[in-house]
Order: sequence, then structure tokens, then C-alpha cells
Amino acid sequence: LSCYKVAVIGSGAWACAATRMIAQNTVGQGETASEFADEVRIWARSQHEAINETGENPVHFPGISLGPNVRAVASVEEAVADADLLVFCVPHQYVQRVCKQLLGKVKPGAKAISLTKGMRVTREGPQLISQMVRRSLGIDCCVLMGANIAEDVGAEQVSEAVIGYSDLESGEVFAKLFERPYFRVSLLPDPMGAELCGTLKNIVALGAGMVDGLDLGPNSKAAIIRQGLKEMRGFAQALFPSAVRDDTFLESCGVGDLVATCIGGRNRRVAEEWTRAALSGSPRSWSDLETDLLKGQKLQGVSTSNEVQEVLAARNWEQRFPLFTTINRIVNGHLPPSSVLDYKEGSRAPL
Ligand code: 13P
Repeated sequence: LSCYKVAVIGSGAWACAATRMIAQNTVGQGETASEFADEVRIWARSQHEAINETGENPVHFPGISLGPNVRAVASVEEAVADADLLVFCVPHQYVQRVCKQLLGKVKPGAKAISLTKGMRVTREGPQLISQMVRRSLGIDCCVLMGANIAEDVGAEQVSEAVIGYSDLESGEVFAKLFERPYFRVSLLPDPMGAELCGTLKNIVALGAGMVDGLDLGPNSKAAIIRQGLKEMRGFAQALFPSAVRDDTFLESCGVGDLVATCIGGRNRRVAEEWTRAALSGSPRSWSDLETDLLKGQKLQGVSTSNEVQEVLAARNWEQRFPLFTTINRIVNGHLPPSSVLDYKEGSRAPL
């Protein structure tokens, strides 16, 4: 039986929660020649010393022990050296840079999984993170997506996730790596649909935060969530018509993640504060609020909204995605936050 060595690339809140689950599953296993090596390496550029000294990431995941078998390293090359399973969990803005650094450094035959919720737009079109990892490093890449607020997973509250796979064997290995009594993993043969859900819900979460900033109640938020889910499915299936499945949107990566993020996510929180500031007559910038509220973590929704809007504009799809488009106009100051529920105006086109 092979003994997989695991490396986690990233050390934000979600990377820490993921590392903790993995470490619970691998601890003690190496000694019994089981499936996973005991030690889990985590790339933590600035926090590696603190993690190794205290067993936790005091900046991004304070008060939650990662596990005695976790070792943090300062260099990403060191993290992946000899690793068989690579868990990518860095903000989407950084993935390309990290992949460049890893060229030629990854063990041949290694398998990857991406936990990053975001996408990148190039001149050739949108590029999913899993595609970027697959293409640049030449290794298989699954995705793990779901309603997974990091702190709640760290507190071992029951959570669900899906692993989107194209290679079933890889999907099964990663399912064993992540599955915990409190973390229920199912396998989904739609990696692109799952990843697009995780990406696109960040835009909808901004709309949900605007609703909260406007002091509107559950009916209005439900309207944003419903329309958001519809546009998520419409966009994913328009991009990848034969690959993205309808039932993906009913899984944890779809409606599950969307609901969790629109109730308790960081994108929602920052958008609420941004809206309150705009309404109070003392507007604040997204980057200012990101620095203030997220303590070094990256806001995904605003850049995702801008990136998705590039695709919508380039393909003349803006009318087909009125909520995405309305949120993007609000985010960039072209419409007031009070317009967030006006997404039907100017668009009667069916999705
Ligand atoms: P935020 O990044 O908005 O906190 O979303 C969290 C999330 O993706 C939960 O699944």
C-alpha cells in the first residue's frame, strides 16, 4: 500500500481548518504502514514559526490547534518536496504565481485538490483554478467545495462538502483524506460545476451583504439567493454546456455554500459594512475594508465579480445575468447599493 505524503499550500483560515481535518486523519498512520504519512506539511510564509511553536495560526485561525503532526515550512518548494497529495488553498489571486514557483518542483504522479473559491480571466477566457493547476503542473486536480465556514469546521460543527473529480481514484483518495464524523464528503463527477459554484457564490454574497447593509430582511435576501443560484447555474452551463450538471446546484457546493456564505461569510460581512459606509455619506473602499475586517485574508467577491463581468461583457451576456451585472455596477460605484434588488430592470431575457 502506498503511503501518501500530504502538503497544504496556504495558511489562511480555510487552509488551517482543512489541515486540521487532514491531520486528524493521518495522525499515527505512518507507524502502521497505512495509507497516509503521519506528518502534514503546511506552507505558511509568515506564520511558520508561530505555527511550529504554538500548534496554531495565531493570525488567521487563533485558538484552534492544528494537530501535533502538522509542520509548517516557510518555502512552498519545501512544502511540496516529495509530497504525493497537494492541497491548494491560497486566494485565487495568488494561484498562478504559486504554480509558477512550483514548476518542475512537484513529484511526478502527485495528485492535487483545490479548495480555492475563485477564478482567473485570461485573454483566452476564464480559467478555473483546477485547470490552472492541471495545465501548469501537469497533474490531476480535484476540487473540494461546500458550505464550509472555516471557523465552524474548526469547531467540528457538522458540515457537508463535495469533491468534484474527473479521476475517480483521485477523488476517492481525497475523500478519505478529508472525511471526518463532522465533515461529510460526497463525490461528484462534475469538477467544473462544483468549482464554478464556489467561485460564483462570492458575487451573490456581496448582494446578500448589501441587503443586510440596507437593513432589509429575509424575503429580500432570499430573492438575491434565488436569483443568484439561477445565474450561477446559467453562467456555469453557458460556459461549459455539456459538462456542468443540473444536480450540482442542489449539492453542498451549490445551494449549500450559497446559503452559508450569504448568512455568515466574509464577503457578505464586508459588503454589509461597505453599504453602511456608502449610505452614511462616508464611503470606504473595498481594499480599506478588506484590510480592516479580514486581517490579512483576501476578499474574493469583488475581484471575482470584475473577472466574471469581463466574460459577460466580452460575450454580450450582461442582459442574461442581471443580478451579477447589477452587483458589479454597484461594486464599482456606477449604481447605488439600494439598486441591488432592481436586477430585473432592463432585462426580460430568460436565463
Ligand atoms: P466567505 O469567503 O465569504 O467567507 O465564504 C466562505 C465560504 O466559502 C463558506 O463555504
